[in-house]
Amino acid sequence: MTDKQVYPVTPEVAKHALINKDQYQAMYKQSIENPDQFWAEHGKRVDWIKPFTKVKNTTYDYNALSIKWFEDGELNASVNCLDRHLESRGDQTAIIFEGDDPSDSRNVSYRELHDQVCKFANVLKSQGVKKGDVVTIYMPMIVETAVVMLACTRVGAIHSVVFGGFSPEALGSRVVNGKSNIVITADEGLRAGRKIPLKKNVDAALKNDDRHTVKTVIVVTRTGGDVAWTEGRDQRYEDLMTNASADCKPEPMNAEDPLFMLYTSGSTGEPKGVLHTTGGYLVYASMTHQYIFDYHDGDVYWCTADFGWVTGHSYILYGPLVNGATTLLFEGVPNYPDSSRMGQVVDKHQVNILYTAPTAIRALMAQGESCMDGTNRSSLRILGSVGEPINPEAWKWYHRVIGNGECPIVDTWWQTETGGILISPLPGATDLKPGSATVPFFGVQPALVDAEGTLLEGEAEGNLVIMDSWPGQMRTIYGDHERFIQTYFSAYKGMYFTGDGARRDADGDYWITGRVDDVLNVSGHRLGTAEVESAMVSHPKVAEAAVVGYPHDIKGQGIYVYVTLMQGEEPTDELKKELVQWVRKEIGPIASPDVIQWATGLPKTRSGKIMRRILRKIAANEYDQLGDTSTLADPSVVDDLINSRQSK
Ligand code: WTA
Repeated sequence: MTDKQVYPVTPEVAKHALINKDQYQAMYKQSIENPDQFWAEHGKRVDWIKPFTKVKNTTYDYNALSIKWFEDGELNASVNCLDRHLESRGDQTAIIFEGDDPSDSRNVSYRELHDQVCKFANVLKSQGVKKGDVVTIYMPMIVETAVVMLACTRVGAIHSVVFGGFSPEALGSRVVNGKSNIVITADEGLRAGRKIPLKKNVDAALKNDDRHTVKTVIVVTRTGGDVAWTEGRDQRYEDLMTNASADCKPEPMNAEDPLFMLYTSGSTGEPKGVLHTTGGYLVYASMTHQYIFDYHDGDVYWCTADFGWVTGHSYILYGPLVNGATTLLFEGVPNYPDSSRMGQVVDKHQVNILYTAPTAIRALMAQGESCMDGTNRSSLRILGSVGEPINPEAWKWYHRVIGNGECPIVDTWWQTETGGILISPLPGATDLKPGSATVPFFGVQPALVDAEGTLLEGEAEGNLVIMDSWPGQMRTIYGDHERFIQTYFSAYKGMYFTGDGARRDADGDYWITGRVDDVLNVSGHRLGTAEVESAMVSHPKVAEAAVVGYPHDIKGQGIYVYVTLMQGEEPTDELKKELVQWVRKEIGPIASPDVIQWATGLPKTRSGKIMRRILRKIAANEYDQLGDTSTLADPSVVDDLINSRQSK
């Protein structure tokens, strides 16, 4: 149901804001009518070693697909994040590090960060890393991770950050796919007081997967815990840094040279390496960061994401640092040592802008308002949400309890593929509606289509597409350009297909309804049903598995698995537990199934395709809305599934 409630821009917010309603309208109009002029002007927000003369050169024509922005310009990302700030703000804090343990925090100035990055860039060079090489990063949320990422950009290497919660198997396949010769890790990570065996996982990944070509593993000391050591391959970060020079000339990169890749899940097959390039991405990340968070010089900004996800790339590191911001880097979790932690961190560092995920808000909400007792959060000015649709109740709780009823919430819709935020309110320009991501950012043309690709006008619900390119868009899937074209540009010709559904209301505001493909969104993390299924069926007792999402109070979506066992295997509770552990080992804890239902058969069409639509309805307890089941090879399967679901 639509929530009709509107939270208009307040006079206080409007007074302070960088962009007001009229400016938004005028700038948006210009960005669509004259993109070349618009982006030529805003492309200057980053420093170019060689200025661009060409701006937009893009076509979504299926047969000639090409996406190039600022294509003859040259720049370097680390220079934009660091060097250019040294004169004006060298001593300003670039990163506030807040450790897992609340007593562990420190500030790193732009100058110090620059020094560290130059040193590690020299270390990378000394290890033979060159422009265009892929460096795999499997690290916790610590300052060194930012140093390593930026050092890669200094020498022109492509970083590939793998989330520290992924299993050795998942890490290994990403190292192999990226043809990476080097992995940077830490001895152990720390989360909620527990140690995460990162180095041990790297050892296992490299041991179990002999397709890799890794020659070097560099290990940052985080806990000082005991780790195994492979002589000749493993090196200590601290040792290498001791003798490194803090003088490192930045590699001039073409605007279209790769900046980083990041694996994300799709509806089919293995995770894909989403590749972003340098110029357009930096322009877009920094511009969205500034305007959407209404970032002003001197603000303290905190995004609670992890470097392992795109939000950590664009809105902890690149966007904020290009803008010369103070960005807070949090190692821990919002409910450790207790559920007041988020409020405590805000007060401790006087955070002005807080950007987090609905799942975190719902988890706090479940604790009750008392989780904010003892904190006042009066420094907060802007709140942000990302990763999944935010339900209106959580939105209002976030607004009223965390933001003391005073801070606008920017509900930002975007994707790993989009590089930066595409649909979001601007604090001073957009009236808010709880649950709606509202309006497009400059240069972004969203539209809705039906299943046949017909554009829908006015108030409508359909599949969300984008009609033209923006500078932060991904350029390819690493090593598989054909898959890139097929995945995003073949469903609807001439349009980028997002994989999301959306509704547009009478005011023209967008409400994202969630994925319309076989991608799950569990606590804001993307997972392909195909990935979980293939992990499941690799267990020797499993004959077949089908995975769907179902509504989950905290996670947004939970993972529901229908499992058919091999002939003669007993469907016991022990086996369910074993299968949950199996998937955790294959992919990582984020992929843990929430519900496993034994099935004697799965609903398939006569051509053998599993009808997930039916499985989703059964998982959600919506038996009256199964739709047409007459095309099934064996319709009685459905009754069996419903009966066994109800008898649980
Ligand atoms: C979902 C995360 C509703 C969406 C930045 C998208 C959202 C997927 C929102 C991308 C939002 C992200 N409202 N849904 N504000 N933000 N999503 O690649 O389904 O990890 O396609 O990027 O998350 O997830 P990804």
